[in-house]
Amino acid sequence: MYKLRELDREDLKRINRWRNDPHLIACLGAPYRHINEDVDREWYDKYLHARNNSVRCAIVDDENETEILGLISLLSINYINRSGELHIMIGGSENRGKGIGTFAVNAMIEHAFCNLNLRRIELGVLETNLAAIRLYEKTGFVREGVKRKANYKNGEYVSMIMMGLLKEEWNLQNR
Ligand SMILES: CC(C)(COP(=O)(O)OP(=O)(O)OC[C@H]1O[C@@H](n2cnc3c(N)ncnc32)[C@H](O)[C@@H]1OP(=O)(O)O)[C@@H](O)C(=O)NCCC(=O)NCCS
Repeated sequence: MYKLRELDREDLKRINRWRNDPHLIACLGAPYRHINEDVDREWYDKYLHARNNSVRCAIVDDENETEILGLISLLSINYINRSGELHIMIGGSENRGKGIGTFAVNAMIEHAFCNLNLRRIELGVLETNLAAIRLYEKTGFVREGVKRKANYKNGEYVSMIMMGLLKEEWNLQNR
């Protein structure tokens, strides 16, 4: 089985490798950048100071909690609108397609709705990322709109599909 635990400084080496992997970054909205380990250490320190409105978790096998398999985050948490923004990556291609993403998204949804008292989770996904779209649809997210040609990736503009999940919809699915 898998579990979520809070991201740790020791995870940064592996995360830095992922963030420099052009194939992985091609799936994300963010542009490809060369990122050295100092940049990632600063990124982590910034997170430690922003824990009131962000959650960053490592996805691990519960029999080997030190080895991070993926990263899942809930960012821009807003306690007036009671919303947060979901991001996920499973780092190694050998670990994709095994249900780890499905586990992590379901676990983070439950954390957001049942512990943090959020009411809405939102995300953006490139229209070319069929695996992620399938993952979000199977965990209950619905399409809310399209930001046309919003992201410049590998020399061309790609549209971003906006998706959202409300707590009341999730409650209905999980009753
Ligand atoms: C997208 C991602 C998080 C999915 O995680 P995962 O652990 O591989 O997903 P799962 O194994 O839980 O599978 C989720 C669903 O996607 C489906 N899927 C996998 N690859 C697919 C593909 N290329 N096309 C369509 N569906 C696909 C699976 O079959 C499964 O659906 P099913 O249960 O109906 O069969 C993972 O592939 C990843 O990290 N990719 C790179 C980073 C990324 O794209 N992050 C998301 C940015 S929005």
